[in-house]
Amino acid sequence: MRFQAPRGTEDVLPADSYKWRRLEAAFVGLVESYGYREIRTPTFEDYALFVRSAGETSDVVSKQMYDFTDKGGRHICLKAEGTAPAMRAMIEGGLLQAGTTHRIFYITPVFRYERPQKGRLREHHQVGVECIGFESAAADAEVISIAVGFYRSLGLEHFVVKLNSIGRAQCRAAYRRAILEHAAAYLTSLDSGARAKAEANPMRLLDSKDPNVQEVVRGLPPITDYLEPESSTRLAKVEELLTNDGISYEIDPRIVRGLDYYTETVFELQVGTIGATQNAIGGGGRYDDLISELGGPKMPSVGFGIGVERALIALDSEGVDLGGYATDVFVVAAGEAHFTRASQIAKELRANGLIVEQDLDLRSLKSQLKQADRANSRFALILGDDEVAKNMVTLRDMKTSSQELTTLEAAMARIGR
Ligand code: HAM
Repeated sequence: MRFQAPRGTEDVLPADSYKWRRLEAAFVGLVESYGYREIRTPTFEDYALFVRSAGETSDVVSKQMYDFTDKGGRHICLKAEGTAPAMRAMIEGGLLQAGTTHRIFYITPVFRYERPQKGRLREHHQVGVECIGFESAAADAEVISIAVGFYRSLGLEHFVVKLNSIGRAQCRAAYRRAILEHAAAYLTSLDSGARAKAEANPMRLLDSKDPNVQEVVRGLPPITDYLEPESSTRLAKVEELLTNDGISYEIDPRIVRGLDYYTETVFELQVGTIGATQNAIGGGGRYDDLISELGGPKMPSVGFGIGVERALIALDSEGVDLGGYATDVFVVAAGEAHFTRASQIAKELRANGLIVEQDLDLRSLKSQLKQADRANSRFALILGDDEVAKNMVTLRDMKTSSQELTTLEAAMARIGR
């Protein structure tokens, strides 16, 4: 009986896991340099947490929840996004006291029942940050700058930052009415189910990929026309800070984001290489009301999530090589009599910080060298009768296949690091 990974999931085999580790290490190194600290939350949560935060009419809640009733009759949902669980945990942990500030980050699997395609999975992974308790535009600029800095540090060149403001609740309410008015003829052409859905959350029409809907919303004035003065000022300030920081961006009024908790600043990082509906390699924004919605104090906050699988596709399509695992030394014992000595040497080399492998079944010399090759080893250190008799080792450079009889000390000095 053979099994396959469930539809919409991907295994990360060793040849690729190195890239994941590089990407995660780059992310952690960067965000820790800003003072962000890691939070880990459960893989599943109370279903209602996502309904309350992402919103009943969001695609995530209305179509994509991986939910079930557990044996105790609880309505559970696999983590559908990272922000609400992180806020739930911070509130529950008593950390979100009014007036405090927090910088947190996470690396997490996220589950959404989507139609799988390249860059769109049912289980994907996100690296993300949440900058909690700062009201000023400088917080918006900090998180955008981190997202951009992350991709730049990995060598990605071709991506755009799309920036928008969706204002405060009042502005969004006015804009929803404007959309409904503007799209009235189109809405009456829909069946009652589709119309009710569109009417429940008209903002969804803005980022629809349906060409008919795109045509309908084309003539609509941008949401930025409806912003309150404070929101316009904030957006202008974010723009100024990004410009000062050397980050170019485009204002895009169609960026409204798919989750209901956003207020004011929203943004996405997009590439042209994955596909129109999967072109976002990261996204986020401000969510000034979420924490109080979840029972905490009113704490303005902003953050982003970056899709790891999409980041890797984007990097790959630009030819960025994140490398792969390599072994420093493969210690070859040519004959069982030399295994103990070979193991001692291997241990010594490991104590010097090197990655060292051995064949535990002591196959032929040829086979061991083949293993060294497959392990992408820089050197093979061979110990046979001749070497042991002379108290020497043979050091083979696996790239050039040249080898020399030398002392262990000289070999170690050559292997170096
Ligand atoms: P999101 O835009 O839903 O935001 O997801 C963030 C990123 O995750 C996307 O830009 C994309 O790169 C990736 N992503 C989303 N869905 C999939 C999928 N089905 N397959 C592969 N990759 C995917 C959030 O989740 C917010 N929690 C971000 C945030 C943090 N906002 C404020 N703080």
